[in-house]
Amino acid sequence: MEKELKLKTAWKSQITRIHFGVNAVFETRLPELLDEEESKCVILLDSNIEKFYLDKLEKFDCKVFSFPAGEPSKTRETKSMLEDHLLSHNFGRDSLMIGMGGGVVNDLSGFLASTYCRGIPHIQIPTSLLAMVDAAIGGKTAVNTPYGKNMIGCFFPPKEVWIDGGFLRTLPRTQWTNGIVEIIKASLIASPSLFKSMREDYRKWQQQDLTFIMQRILESVSIKLDVVEKDPEEEKGYRRILNLGHTFGHALETLEDFQIEHGGAVAIGILVSCYISNKMKLLSSKAFEEIKEVFDLYQVPLHLKKRHSIDDLMATLALDKKAVKSSPRLVLIESIGKVAPFNGEYCSEVEFSLLEEAISWMHEKFAK
Ligand SMILES: NC(=O)c1ccc[n+]([C@@H]2O[C@H](COP(=O)([O-])OP(=O)(O)OC[C@H]3O[C@@H](n4cnc5c(N)ncnc54)[C@H](O)[C@@H]3O)[C@@H](O)[C@H]2O)c1
Repeated sequence: MEKELKLKTAWKSQITRIHFGVNAVFETRLPELLDEEESKCVILLDSNIEKFYLDKLEKFDCKVFSFPAGEPSKTRETKSMLEDHLLSHNFGRDSLMIGMGGGVVNDLSGFLASTYCRGIPHIQIPTSLLAMVDAAIGGKTAVNTPYGKNMIGCFFPPKEVWIDGGFLRTLPRTQWTNGIVEIIKASLIASPSLFKSMREDYRKWQQQDLTFIMQRILESVSIKLDVVEKDPEEEKGYRRILNLGHTFGHALETLEDFQIEHGGAVAIGILVSCYISNKMKLLSSKAFEEIKEVFDLYQVPLHLKKRHSIDDLMATLALDKKAVKSSPRLVLIESIGKVAPFNGEYCSEVEFSLLEEAISWMHEKFAK
């Protein structure tokens, strides 16, 4: 499978070319790039990607720098350490940065590229399913701080993204869920046909049918591109639809000290939004049942370690960027594939009594 999509970005009207393939990175993309490119290339990766792929990179004429895998590395300190490595190896304005890894590498390398010598071009090679369908798409870069996740960063779209299904062969099973939940979310906000395929053909995921999986990745990426093109820098509210389930999901992750899986937390968040959508007579009960079923088919871990008080939940939800005067607003759907528009706000406040009811339903179902 070889395919290319383009994203028109708001940043200096730059186009990001998004290439899809299987085994293309090492066989064609990198060799062709290094043949043509006059810039000095540097590849940033984490320790897991280094373990699996360093031998394949060694034959290319480019410098490779790595840092320890995992979210704790996504910091200003790692960025400074990498900047010093690059400076000490005389990388200048004529350099090209390539980030090869999951969302942590993509976020960190994109941010580094945005400030290095006042900005150098970069290419993203997402290697986790979540990074392929989400983190590497849309031009957001960031690092975490002790005060919160993704607090320091900027919009800095890559010139190219290479999505290569071959990387999924080494991705641990536990890492697939986060990406699958994002694909289900994309289907819920924009594509009944993607939802149908996720529901009916789930065995193809179990069999790791890469042709089928690449097609679902492509559909999911197309949905994100469409949203990002309409609202590239989150100025209009439309980009909020990508947040379905994330408001609640992030609050749950925070209250559970990040000890629950990100995908599971977002899936619970999506189900809470769908429960509320159903009670507000936006979403049919049949559709709500189908949505619950799809997360079960993929065995998404829907478990909370404990019940959280309404006060704690409200206080955490109030920190969400969609909140107005500390009152949370949620993205809701009116059918599978369609977000409730709420006069162009694409999110709504929810009556306190209904939020309370949804929270007790959530506890009943997921905090056993
Ligand atoms: N910028 C955005 O728009 C955006 C969107 C969503 C998420 N994110 C960010 O992405 C991060 C999460 O991304 P993630 O889930 O990819 O996390 P990650 O980068 O930590 O990758 C998860 C784990 O999988 C390993 N891994 C990745 N690809 C592999 C492969 N092919 N083979 C073997 N191991 C592999 C990594 O080394 C890591 O241990 C978060 O920091 C989040 O904030 C950013």
